[in-house]
Amino acid sequence: MKIRHLLSAAALWFLTLTAQAQPAPAHRTDLGGEFLFTRATLVTYEQGLEALADYLRSYLPLAGASEQYASDAALVLALDPSLGEEAYRLDILPDHIAIEGGAYGGVFNGIQQLFRLLPPEVYARECTLPLRLPTLHIEDAPRFAYRGMMLDVARTWVDAPHVKRYIDLLSYHNINKLHLHLSDDEGWRIEIRSHPELTEIGGFRGGDSPVRPIYGKWDEKYGGYYTQEQMRELIAYAAARNIEIIPEIDLPGHSRNIASVHPEIRCNYRPDTVSTCGYDYRSAWCVAREENYRLLEDILGELCALFPSPYIHIGGDEVDASQWERCPDCRALMERRGITDPHRLEDIFMQRMSDILAAHGKRPALWNEAVKRGGPARTSRVHGWESVRACLDAVDKGYPTVVMPATSFYFDMRQSPHEEGHSWAAVFDARTTYNFDFAREGFNAERMRHVEGLEAAFWSEAYVSHEPEKPDYLDYMTFPRLCALSRLAWSGNEAGWESYYRELVGEHYDRMTAMGIRFRLFPPTVSCRNGELTASTDDGSTLCYLVDSSPEEHSYTGPIATTQPYRYRFFTRRGTGRSPEAADRSFYRTVTPSWKLTSSMPLSERFPASNAEHYRGMSRTCRTCRPKDWLLYTFDMPLRCRELFLQTGYRQLPNAHIVTGYAEVSYDGVRFERAGALDKGCITLRPNRPVRAVRLVATCRGNSTPFVVIQPPVVKPVL
Ligand code: ACM
Ligand code: ZN
Repeated sequence: MKIRHLLSAAALWFLTLTAQAQPAPAHRTDLGGEFLFTRATLVTYEQGLEALADYLRSYLPLAGASEQYASDAALVLALDPSLGEEAYRLDILPDHIAIEGGAYGGVFNGIQQLFRLLPPEVYARECTLPLRLPTLHIEDAPRFAYRGMMLDVARTWVDAPHVKRYIDLLSYHNINKLHLHLSDDEGWRIEIRSHPELTEIGGFRGGDSPVRPIYGKWDEKYGGYYTQEQMRELIAYAAARNIEIIPEIDLPGHSRNIASVHPEIRCNYRPDTVSTCGYDYRSAWCVAREENYRLLEDILGELCALFPSPYIHIGGDEVDASQWERCPDCRALMERRGITDPHRLEDIFMQRMSDILAAHGKRPALWNEAVKRGGPARTSRVHGWESVRACLDAVDKGYPTVVMPATSFYFDMRQSPHEEGHSWAAVFDARTTYNFDFAREGFNAERMRHVEGLEAAFWSEAYVSHEPEKPDYLDYMTFPRLCALSRLAWSGNEAGWESYYRELVGEHYDRMTAMGIRFRLFPPTVSCRNGELTASTDDGSTLCYLVDSSPEEHSYTGPIATTQPYRYRFFTRRGTGRSPEAADRSFYRTVTPSWKLTSSMPLSERFPASNAEHYRGMSRTCRTCRPKDWLLYTFDMPLRCRELFLQTGYRQLPNAHIVTGYAEVSYDGVRFERAGALDKGCITLRPNRPVRAVRLVATCRGNSTPFVVIQPPVVKPVL
């Protein structure tokens, strides 16, 4: 094809970028010439690709598009069914650009590759033309057909505009599945027209809702849900970006929300609600209650009609089978079926769900626990999250499996020991995600045949929900770990981390900035030698530091002479990215003074006070807290320290702390004085005198959990 050469007097850029950090092309041949990309470059598209021409022109200032072949057509979008669906060819030749894909998704992937050859501003829709592009030929296809991200919108409501933004960010990384976790104990997020109460009641927490609130939002009713109309729009928005939305309704456990709206679905016994401030903790559907299946038919039927995905995820994780053991109806069902293991009831339940889905032409996707006994049909897709072992177990049983062990792919895990995030599976950063190695983990060729791909997950029970003032938290936890996932899933990690890290720093940090992502930078290195405190980074970021608890930021310009290195915390910024804080080792050093714990709340025998007192771990009360309840920490010797951190609650559990309250300090063991309010169950004290005792006093009406967790104090010595 010919184009009219437009010669411009404007300064032109010649781009020779090769780095990607996002998916990297399998084959690239540089042809040594150049193409002049101007505003007049006409987009010509094959029938069915008009949406992609519009998409392209929404990012680039191109004057026109036409379905008709035109002699001056210069950027051609075409289909070549001989390619795999998501494979593409990108040719930049002296007189035109051609992007050919096996199907719509392949062309979309080719457009993303073209974006990676342009200045980062393309993502901000601020790329100026003309540009000179190097001529080249790229042929590319994904390693895995399934490249997914799971977003938990059940615990934390994420509204449709924010989901759209997230879809954009995923699509720049060739992620092609968005697994939406739409229901859990804390929320029901999708309108079911035949049962509007599910969202009208279950979409909101706190206030007069029967759904328990979180973090002291007792009187505030908050939440939200997607109407079917909004979801249809999201589905179309995602599909236009080559992303399939896979809905999940988590069954038969994790169902406390719907059970709060329809208490009759629960098992047939009286629960303990005294220690839980009136909340009913039963979270599983009764398997024996026949009416339950009619409600489930209504729900799944509407989901099947709404979502084009061939799979509906129906959960299957972490079911508390003790509820079925306590239920006379479930026990009778077990007897009728000759079952002794209550977990078999999950197989029975899931079979009924699969039958409902099959009647609508859909297949189930399941968390790995649901296939432990091998019950579900081999057409079910398994999401292996618990461990690599669980993934291997699923593939060995012959299930098509999405590999997502929490230790490398749960992006709610914190990224270094002193950052926010969960830690129950692992503490890991993008390097761990990138380095996931199928062969080393035991996936031989036969096992790989059953691997559909990779997925990462962001669970939102503990963080975004109680920190809505931190809108960048999801970005920070997702990126750059998602970049590493996308590379791993698209083309693999053979280049090695060092090379990949150079790509991230060299190219992708600027792209993520243009994308508006508040990504995480790697922390700076801090060291102290001969009275000089030094900080450094290798990623071109700006180094800053804080002194003591002052919020004033200082620019780091060189080594700091100090005898007190623990007073300094360093961090970096680059573009929209920021690093976590890092400090000299002395900052983290702690001591373990001897102390005693007493409380107005009875203490648990299973998690006794001695656990915390001996720094072996946490202790628990036997009931939730009420106004004026107290915890008293008494030190055997007057305690001199520079910092004393007292924590109720547990990072892994959203509501195990004293939600609101205050601390009182005693310097003589007799008189107590106020020392500040608890912040998420915690307080940091910086006493300037030796401390004899600290009392934490609750002001909240319970925490919606039947206990309070008490952690050992963290004491930083005076050095
Ligand atoms: C899960 O993390 N419970 C799937
Ligand atoms: Zn039951």
